[in-house]
Amino acid sequence: MSRFYVTTPIYYVNDVPHIGHAYTTIAADTLARYYRLRGRDVFFLTGTDEHGANVAQAAAAHGKSPQEYADEINAAFRAAWQSLNISNDDLLRTTSARHEAGVRAFVQELYDRGEIYKGRYEGMYCVSCEKFMTEDELVEGKCPNHQREPVWYAEENYFFRLSKYCDILTRAIEDPGDLNHFEVEPPARRNEVLGKLRVGLSDISISRANLPWGIPLPFDPSQTTYVWVDALLSYITGIGSEKRTEQFKRYWPADVQLMAKDILWFHAIIWPAMLIGAGLPVPRRVYAHGYFTINGQKMSKTLGNVIRPQQLIDRFGVDGARYLVLSAFPFGTDGDISIDNFVEAYNADLANDLGNLLNRTASMINRYFQGSVPAPEGKPNELDADLQATAAATFPVMEQAIDALAYSDALAAAWQLVGRANKYVEENAPWALARSDRARLATVLYNLAESLRLIAYAIYPVMPQTAAAIAAQLGFEFQTKGAWEQMVAWGGYPAGATVTGKPQPLFPRLQ
Ligand code: MSP
Repeated sequence: MSRFYVTTPIYYVNDVPHIGHAYTTIAADTLARYYRLRGRDVFFLTGTDEHGANVAQAAAAHGKSPQEYADEINAAFRAAWQSLNISNDDLLRTTSARHEAGVRAFVQELYDRGEIYKGRYEGMYCVSCEKFMTEDELVEGKCPNHQREPVWYAEENYFFRLSKYCDILTRAIEDPGDLNHFEVEPPARRNEVLGKLRVGLSDISISRANLPWGIPLPFDPSQTTYVWVDALLSYITGIGSEKRTEQFKRYWPADVQLMAKDILWFHAIIWPAMLIGAGLPVPRRVYAHGYFTINGQKMSKTLGNVIRPQQLIDRFGVDGARYLVLSAFPFGTDGDISIDNFVEAYNADLANDLGNLLNRTASMINRYFQGSVPAPEGKPNELDADLQATAAATFPVMEQAIDALAYSDALAAAWQLVGRANKYVEENAPWALARSDRARLATVLYNLAESLRLIAYAIYPVMPQTAAAIAAQLGFEFQTKGAWEQMVAWGGYPAGATVTGKPQPLFPRLQ
């Protein structure tokens, strides 16, 4: 069975989760659920980034020790992922013993291989980015991402020989035949990274002399590991890199590492260079999705427009929230989110299109056949054939879209079938057939139930509870084990299945 390893960034514990974090995590969860359904051996890792000046300062502002504060926010992340029905296999904390040991082992390895040397760092540092800044990155003396003045550092540090990886990384990205080949996606982001590589790379400081909240360097415990080096390593310490466990051998390199474009630099440049430096394989795919604004504005505490995952869940339900964020705009591009648009999309796509289709199908099966439809008889007519053709076309499109991380396209393919099935109801007018042609009525209702069974498979990765609810209401078993081709082939709805009681609306209409 082929394995599939997917990661999200590990999120800073300087604040409780917001829907930006949820966005990437739902996207990763969708991949994990989809490939599990396809029979792959999936490992899905997320985590929390708990060291560094950023977290230390947030803790101090709350009158807590960094560890106390990290414990609290870590718990909030866990709770958020649970309520969003995220199926992560593990959640790595950078303050865990297994991670710290893994970081020490890795940094020592780089040191032993001559990849690290001692030098003097002088320059600017944005604490919010946890990033060394150059003069030309600043706008009016401030970090453009955080509107915050960087601090000046002048200290003895250890440096990683990043500069020597410029050509190595360019080749690794450009040449599919290269030993270290990895994909940077989408294309616009790849071009950006290649453009930066053409300018050249400088060595980077990978330790801090005066920041106790971090992992001491094994070869000089007076310094702590730079928080980004610490954080990136979670992707391998989380699967047992230190002891080279079976799990590590099985899952590394990662198949897809997800993040937004804000931190692509670390993932497409520093991370692969560190891995190559330590003699390890690089991830197969690094995908930087877009960044979204809220009503055209950057989400920020100062503006007071931060949306928490629970707010979306309260309003739209878990699957509603998952659907809305992934369908709002294409994954690879920037986008804008607004609650008004969410309400509109919820009512149109979920309450009306999908919700009504299930509701009327189940109700008619109850009304006309006491809750169980016989198998269709005879040859499909033109309308049936067209419905079946739409169903058959759904899966190749969905499969390709998910492989390409084009979530909104995958959902659009499913909704194509929802739309076709709703039209099929109108075209066949079952209420009229009930008086004139019961055999035809049975065929029509069977085909609708079967369409909904297929819709359940098509939406499952994004909307697992809804898929289960459709199965429960229509009385079929939603199988997660088995051959995919068979699961999504037309005709799997068990004729005579019993529709359960009075249908419950999946998505109550919102005002
Ligand atoms: N701790 C680092 C990551 C270390 S990974 C080795 C970090 N943490 S973060 O908490 O700031 O999370 C940044 C990530 O959150 C983004 O890359 C993205 O995945 C997600 N997002 C945060 N805000 C977002 C938007 N407004 N839009 C899209 N994604 C968002 O950086």
